[in-house]
Amino acid sequence: MKRLLIAPSVLSADFGRLAEEVGKVERAGADWIHVDVMDGHFVPNLTVGPAVVRSLKRRTKLPLDVHLMIERPERYVGAFAGAGARFLTVHVEAGPRMGDVIRLIRKLGCRPGMSLRPRTPVERLAPFLKELDLALVMTVEPGFGGQEFMPDMLTKVRWLKDRFRKLGKKAWVEVDGGINLATAAPAVRAGADVLVAGQAIFGRPDPGRALKEIRRAAVGGLS
Ligand code: DX5
Ligand code: ZN
Repeated sequence: MKRLLIAPSVLSADFGRLAEEVGKVERAGADWIHVDVMDGHFVPNLTVGPAVVRSLKRRTKLPLDVHLMIERPERYVGAFAGAGARFLTVHVEAGPRMGDVIRLIRKLGCRPGMSLRPRTPVERLAPFLKELDLALVMTVEPGFGGQEFMPDMLTKVRWLKDRFRKLGKKAWVEVDGGINLATAAPAVRAGADVLVAGQAIFGRPDPGRALKEIRRAAVGGLS
């Protein structure tokens, strides 16, 4: 089996001790660090910008998986690439000409990803699949950590896996929102390659241990 990747989301971490928090999950075997960027327009919340990505880049060897929940992301992808993002994921709903944005991300030396809100049909991603390295399925409404997982979204995961396979394309399918000990296994069974988890890792007293437990629960669900 291909290794399951876990990407802790720092949205639920203590931002005053970010490097320390990331160190805990890095030592526990985290694969990527997921950074949620929100602009107060695309979603009603505000989070961090390129400066925080740059600081994190200096403090971890793990790839930075940057999820842009912002309008017109073409204005900022250069700054995030310069700050050290490895993956740059934009939303299909974020503006016109998203194909151009995907190509710009690749030109900047990052791996392009595309995401969609729960109410957006997965077919909206079809025109972009050939050019993506990653598709991110939102299993909660984007904007906040700690929400409840929407199991219906797993049909999108299955659809994406199938389409990537038919295209003969290697791309990660990532699931984001409400992942915990109970939901990790169904997500992986549906075909998820990468699990994002915020509250279930950084909301726990021992984030490293929580990460290991999620990995065990997810992989256990396959047997
Ligand atoms: C939500 C973000 C998620 C968030 C997930 O808009 O995209 O990455 O951190 O948090 P949990 O795992 O707490 O649902
Ligand atoms: Zn996210």
